[in-house]
Amino acid sequence: MKKIILSGSTVTGDLTLGNYIGAINNWKQLQDQYDCLYFLADLHALTVYQDPKVLRERTYSFFAQYIALGLDPKKNIIFNQSHVHEHTELAWILTCLTPMGYLNRMTQFKEKSEKHVKNINAGLFTYPILMAADILLYQTDLVPVGEDQRQHLELCRDIVGFFENRYGPGVFKMPEAYVGKMGARIMSLQDPDKKMSKSDENDKNFVSIIDDAKKIEKKIKSATTDSGTDIKFDPENKAGLSNLMTIYSVLSGKSIAELEKAYEGKMYGHLKVDLAELVVETLKPVREKYDDLMKNKDHLDELLKSGADRAQVKARVTLDQVYKTVGLLKY
Ligand code: AMP
Ligand code: TRP
Repeated sequence: MKKIILSGSTVTGDLTLGNYIGAINNWKQLQDQYDCLYFLADLHALTVYQDPKVLRERTYSFFAQYIALGLDPKKNIIFNQSHVHEHTELAWILTCLTPMGYLNRMTQFKEKSEKHVKNINAGLFTYPILMAADILLYQTDLVPVGEDQRQHLELCRDIVGFFENRYGPGVFKMPEAYVGKMGARIMSLQDPDKKMSKSDENDKNFVSIIDDAKKIEKKIKSATTDSGTDIKFDPENKAGLSNLMTIYSVLSGKSIAELEKAYEGKMYGHLKVDLAELVVETLKPVREKYDDLMKNKDHLDELLKSGADRAQVKARVTLDQVYKTVGLLKY
């Protein structure tokens, strides 16, 4: 039996090079070895106000980007969270098991409620419980998440404990984090002390998967670097440069040491020019495939439906077991 991997991406902002390097690129390498489920967390997106039209279009766009980036909808189960209603149903059961104190500790909640002071809704607070439901429904073994989601995964593990304390073991599998070896964290281009984030308001901070060549070049060339001259990987003192080197290394397959050697005696500008070209070349075929997919929404709908149907069969088994275990009558 293959191990089960599951991950999701909230449908907000624009998928970035950070998502690709930190998440999707790793997922591609897992698709033969594991049973993989990937979904678009559209319900999670609603914790912040979304223009309905934009949300709809963005959901298609993310899905098309996943496929264009090489996730095969036959090898993986790729679906939209809201299409499988078991997610919200399990989330309710888990909500009734999760102490407020545990949610109060979540740093993402603290950050988000500072950012969205006018919309601190209960969904923002219970967000990690829905995430736990996403994971537990599929008897997931491994969850490939970036560092920022580690705390939520820990909470999910705690929730398994709360459930087992009350009802005994055997209903859920205890999930673990899966972290890729390289490029686990790509930083913002203008402010390399913070993560490259798809919900960043300043679009100079990230490269979007569907940016055109001109934009990509401009963004990479204007990335913040220090005033030094040596091309050396040193995340503490040369955060901007080191970030560019990480991106370069992941996309080219060359090690950091090889890059340092190749750029000995050269200037930061040289590296930026080459990196911009590499990113443009990497994303060009992705963009073409993406444009093609977006022209045919009926086809995207079919793929989404097939993904959701396959996911639901699995989700239903777990939810039935949960309902039975907690004492809800069979329907
Ligand atoms: P998000 O963009 O926060 O919805 O995250 C979707 C997935 O991409 C998660 O697994 C994140 O940890 C990962 N991810 C997002 N941004 C980055 C980044 N800058 N570097 C590495 N991984 C990232
Ligand atoms: N909260 C995650 C993020 O913003 C997205 C997500 C939702 C997720 N449910 C998940 C990731 C389940 C992994 C597993 O990145």
